[in-house]
Formats: sequence, C-alpha cells, structure tokens
Amino acid sequence: MWGGLFFGFFLLAEQKKETRPSGRDPTYKLVSRSVSLFSTDQVESHPWRIAFWSLAGYLCCSAVWADESVLTLAAKGNAVVGAQLSESERCQECHGQDGISHDGKIPNHAGQHAAYLVKQLLAFRSGERRHDIMNRMAEELSDQDIADIAAYFAGQSRMRSEAGLVTPFAVALFSQGDQARGIQPCGKCHGEQGQGKIEQGVVYPRIGGQRRVYLRGQLAGWKLADRTNSPQAVMNDTARQLSDDEIDALADYIAGL
Ligand code: HEC
Ligand code: HEC
Repeated sequence: MWGGLFFGFFLLAEQKKETRPSGRDPTYKLVSRSVSLFSTDQVESHPWRIAFWSLAGYLCCSAVWADESVLTLAAKGNAVVGAQLSESERCQECHGQDGISHDGKIPNHAGQHAAYLVKQLLAFRSGERRHDIMNRMAEELSDQDIADIAAYFAGQSRMRSEAGLVTPFAVALFSQGDQARGIQPCGKCHGEQGQGKIEQGVVYPRIGGQRRVYLRGQLAGWKLADRTNSPQAVMNDTARQLSDDEIDALADYIAGL
C-alpha cells in the first residue's frame, strides 16, 4: 500500500519534471488543456490530483505484483481428480505420491500453496520458466488439469526434508536480512518458518522443508537470471546480493525448517 502511494508520488514528480520544459510549446499547451483532468500542473492547488496519481500508482503496483487469475484458477482445483491425474501424467514418479520428491534436485510439493504450483505450471507451459523436463510435462496440461493437480499436492501435510544445518549468518540473513546490501529478510515474505503465504493477491511459496539441492539450484538460478519469473524480479534482486557460500548456508538452513 505505502509502496503504491510512494510510487504514485514518484509518477507525479516525473510528470512535473516532464511538463515543465515543454510547457512553453503552444501545441503542448493545447493538448495539455484538453487533458487537464489528468494534468499535474498546479498540482499544489488541487489535492485531489495528488490522490488520483497516488491511487493510480497503488493500482499499478498491486496489479504488477498481484496475479488474481492464478488465485481464481487455483480455487477451481479438485484434489480427487488431481490424485488420479498426477499419477496418469507421471508427476508422482518424480515428485512422489505423497509430494515428497525422489531426488534432491526435484522439489517437494507436499503442502505447497496451490496457487504457487498453478503459477509455476502455467509458467512452464508458456515457457516463461525454462526447464527441459518440466516444459514438456506441462505442455499437454489444460488449465483445469493444472488446478486439480495443484489441489492434490497442496492438500498433503507439509513438506519435510533432510535435517537442516544451522549457521548463524544464515539465520541472520533469513530473519533480519542485511540492510547494508539492501537484502530484505527472507522470513518477511516467506514466513518465519518458511511456510509462505498469500497476501494481497501475491503468492509467496513455502520454502521451509524444501529440498536443499533444489533450493540451492533455484537461488543460483535467480542470481544468474536463469529464472526470472518472480514479481518485479524481487528474487533476482535478492539473490544477486548473495555470495555462493551464503546461498549454500541458506539452502542448508531452510531445508531443515
Ligand atoms: C522426470 C522427473 C519429473 C517429472 C515426471 C515431473 N517433474 Fe515437475 N519438476 C522436476 C524437476 C527436476 C523440477 C525442478 C525444475 C527446476 O530446477 O527449475 C520440477 C519442478 C516442478 C514444479 C515447480 C515447483 C516449485 O517449487 O517451483 C512444479 C509445480 C512441478 N514440477 C509439477 C509437476 C507436475 C504437475 C508434473 C506432472 C505433470 C511433473 N512436475 C512431472 C521433475 C519432474
Ligand atoms: C519481498 C519478498 C521476498 C523476499 C524478501 C524473498 N523472497 Fe523468495 N520469493 C518471493 C516470491 C514472490 C517468490 C515466488 C516467485 C514466483 O512467483 O515464481 C519467491 C521464490 C523463492 C524461491 C523459489 C521457491 C521454489 O519452490 O522454487 C526460493 C528458493 C526463495 N524465494 C528463497 C528466498 C530466500 C533464501 C530469501 C532471502 C535471502 C528470499 N527468498 C527473500 C518473494 C521474496
């Protein structure tokens, strides 16, 4: 919300910057008069214009982050159908019947947020997220298949992996971040136990209890921009700041949550 308002003021400031020099141009004046409703000239005397641009900024920001279509689709899932489909489509061969994967490189799905699984399957199907096997696996799935399979895995009791390894600097990064490098705490978005959440239409995945090798792979992927589908590149910005040792230590810690 505050980010949106701030962005609104930012838009406002940018508009003012742009309008000032061109204000002398007669063509501009004509245009500007005809769109005076949205003009930011004399904004000081029109507080409602501030409100307009702030609202525009808020709506714009939340529209970029929130993905209501994913939530709507996830709500249509049928877990009973998903149980059968995930077997016939061979998902269980790798991700496990109980949502606990058969290999460290393959993510667990047990207790993952359905909307997150839906979002990723849509991204694999469209090619927005690249992975040879998963792009092929998602190719033939309909929207309803995706919702059903996601509902099946989401309904299982939460994922647990190998025992974690707790290093003080990983714990500090997770719960406090590092202000000097602009790293926000992982727990702020993913929850104190890495349980994830859905807030204002944005899906933050469960990462606690996820496979350590997979976690390490994804953090490296965000860092190298092999994976780029997080809202406004938030995970690329975060991971770029992390050293390889920090990525290892975070993956070890989060796997055990
Ligand atoms: C041969 C093994 C294999 C099969 C079969 C398979 N997957 Fe995957 N899946 C993977 C691997 C490996 C990844 C990790 C991709 C990466 O590293 O980006 C993955 C990733 C995923 C993700 C992303 C999870 C996350 O936490 O971001 C979803 C969702 C998923 N698979 C669903 C499915 C579904 C649904 C099916 C069946 C239609 C399926 N998978 C079949 C191996 C498999
Ligand atoms: C500002 C919010 C935010 C912060 C801070 C944040 N994340 Fe994320 N993270 C996200 C979102 C949103 C996604 C989902 C991206 C998508 O939709 O594909 C994500 C995805 C991930 C994934 C991929 C999970 C999967 O199953 O593939 C991992 C791993 C991850 N984050 C780890 C971290 C770690 C470690 C930190 C701290 C160093 C962190 N995140 C900080 C918002 C955040």
